[in-house]
Amino acid sequence: MAGEQIISMKNVCKGYKMGTEKLNVLKDINFEVRKGEFTAILGPSGSGKSTLMNIIGCMDTLDSGSYDLSGIPIHDAKEKELVKIRNHKIGFIFQNYHLIPTYTVMQNIIMPLLMRGMDRKSAERECEEVMDMLGLSQRVSHKPSELSGGQRQRVAIARALCSKPSLLLADEPTGALDQSSGTEVLKLFTKLHDMGNTIVMITHDLNVAKWAERTVRIVDGEIFEEEKAV
Ligand SMILES: Nc1ncnc2c1ncn2[C@@H]1O[C@H](COP(=O)(O)OP(=O)(O)OP(=O)(O)O)[C@@H](O)[C@H]1O
Ligand SMILES: [Mg+2]
Repeated sequence: MAGEQIISMKNVCKGYKMGTEKLNVLKDINFEVRKGEFTAILGPSGSGKSTLMNIIGCMDTLDSGSYDLSGIPIHDAKEKELVKIRNHKIGFIFQNYHLIPTYTVMQNIIMPLLMRGMDRKSAERECEEVMDMLGLSQRVSHKPSELSGGQRQRVAIARALCSKPSLLLADEPTGALDQSSGTEVLKLFTKLHDMGNTIVMITHDLNVAKWAERTVRIVDGEIFEEEKAV
């Protein structure tokens, strides 16, 4: 459905208590992401990117305002519901991959599926399909330590994709990679975007943000839409 909203944030504020003081980090954030968009959130260190990512990812609560994810009011949800929403709606991709080193690629990818109650056969089939698409089928029985950084990140992306999430949420996905592996990963995001996935990518690097179809800047906890140069 065109124009369907995946993220809708209205007047979101978030701060941290420091003793008797309160540090206001996110200041009245209004932010929307529509289905199928590839959005970069670009901002310098300390601007509030991780704080915003934690809220988008349902890993932290807001102080005030409202946040709907795929039409679900997150601001009203209890922790138990949030866990479910995190597992079903969001595919996380982190700078340092977060793969389990003692597991093979296959085991890493199917684990979240098994935890959700899928039988092993179906999970393995799902894994093989995604690995095929990412050109990693030769690597399913390798350990993460036997892969390059770029390959590890692609495995992490495969794991995120297997859950068929409404949103792929990536935090500095190329931060630990050299230029050419970083470019490979960004090309993959472009492909996944073309296939219809909704992607939010957080970065401090303008050259990384340029790969997205849309960039919003976060400066000192406030959000600004970037006008696209045509
Ligand atoms: N748990 C916390 N308790 C107190 N202050 C915090 C906490 N987390 C973040 N902050 C403060 O909030 C502000 C924004 O931090 P945040 O981590 O969101 O920035 P960032 O944009 O992700 O930075 P970086 O690019 O360095 O990761 C900073 O001033 C930081 O010191
Ligand atoms: Mg951060």
